[in-house]
Amino acid sequence: MSAMSDAVRPQLPGNSQVDVIGATEIGAAAHVAARALHDDPMFVFLSKDAQRRRRALPVFLRAVLESGLAGRATYVARRSGVVCGVAAWLSPGTYPLSISRRARQALGALRALAATPRTIPAGLSAMIAMERAHPLEEHWYLALLAVDPAEQGHGFGAALLQEILTREGADLWPAYLETTNPRNLAWYGRFGFDVEEELRPIATGPAIWTMRRPSAG
Ligand SMILES: CC(C)(COP(=O)(O)OP(=O)(O)OC[C@H]1O[C@@H](n2cnc3c(N)ncnc32)[C@H](O)[C@@H]1OP(=O)(O)O)[C@@H](O)C(=O)NCCC(=O)NCCS
Repeated sequence: MSAMSDAVRPQLPGNSQVDVIGATEIGAAAHVAARALHDDPMFVFLSKDAQRRRRALPVFLRAVLESGLAGRATYVARRSGVVCGVAAWLSPGTYPLSISRRARQALGALRALAATPRTIPAGLSAMIAMERAHPLEEHWYLALLAVDPAEQGHGFGAALLQEILTREGADLWPAYLETTNPRNLAWYGRFGFDVEEELRPIATGPAIWTMRRPSAG
């Protein structure tokens, strides 16, 4: 367990918990993530139309969550039994996903982008750039982390992150993530992540930062 992660272990509000996602919670988790990512710079760039984002994001994020289940480390935060946050990790050795899971995820992305067909090339460029930058060594991959906007600032994000980062032996591997929101850089820094690369796959689009938390060894 790293000292960095210990230092920021949050006290969650009463009646809340972080637990492995239940089979019936995927839809709720996708909607929570869609609300959280509604104003994310990349998704706003891909569709300026808020209504379209509201329709497209749950479709895409459901596909991300379903393929992420292969990593066997998807957690939800619940408050009074209601899902209010989600973290989908792929455990070391799970990335890259199998061809069929990747195809399903790409299909989800295309279905979501279909709402705004002109942005398909930009969306694909972003996905390809992330794929190219992805580490080849074994690592924990944070495919998705999101907390319902109404529940942010109560420690759920930190608790979801630490479910893996403070797990016994987790720091034998590096941890890796991408973010398109500059607000997140300092926040992830609190947990030992450093910016590795700034990707600019779309000339007029937002940056994608890759972040890495080194292993303990
Ligand atoms: C990033 C995110 C998961 C954090 O979740 P959270 O439950 O609000 O986080 P916590 O409550 O554990 O931490 C919030 C603290 O970090 C600070 N903070 C810094 N950057 C922040 C950010 N980008 N979002 C939220 N809080 C941030 C808050 O001010 C707060 O400070 P405090 O502890 O001193 O009060 C959440 O804001 C979110 O879902 N954002 C939108 C989706 C997203 O960008 N996900 C990450 C994709 S890589």
